[in-house]
Amino acid sequence: MAGPALRQLHAHRAIHDASLGGAEDHVADMKILLNKLEHKELAEEMQSFIEYVEQRILTHADSEEEDNGLYEEAVNKNPDLHDKVQHLTRDHDLMRIMIERMKEELAKDEVDFQKLIDYSVSIIIVDEIHSRDEESVLLAE
Ligand SMILES: [Fe+2]
Ligand SMILES: [Fe+2]
Repeated sequence: MAGPALRQLHAHRAIHDASLGGAEDHVADMKILLNKLEHKELAEEMQSFIEYVEQRILTHADSEEEDNGLYEEAVNKNPDLHDKVQHLTRDHDLMRIMIERMKEELAKDEVDFQKLIDYSVSIIIVDEIHSRDEESVLLAE
């Protein structure tokens, strides 16, 4: 992800909204497959959701946390933001933890698909709250 885009509110918000919208589309598809009891297709869709979140949401998170990235820069400019940046980093960690749990569940012989849907919805909720918070705390108009 290009550095400058992350430092502009409109560009950064557009990245958040695009990745969140794509994740929501995946979850909508997964709910339909769960209702139809299409477990083979559902497992494939779960795998594709995991890869999507890793590539679009967690890679974005990694770039914000990297050395000289958005978070470090924000705290260097304003040390009062230290705690807030820790909270934002914890949000990223929660999404990383939930993705790891999804991988573990998906690798089981008896997969609990409802549990996987619950994790995927939780990731979307955390990501939405996190994105709005990050925009208001770190990115000025
Ligand atoms: Fe973030
Ligand atoms: Fe972000």
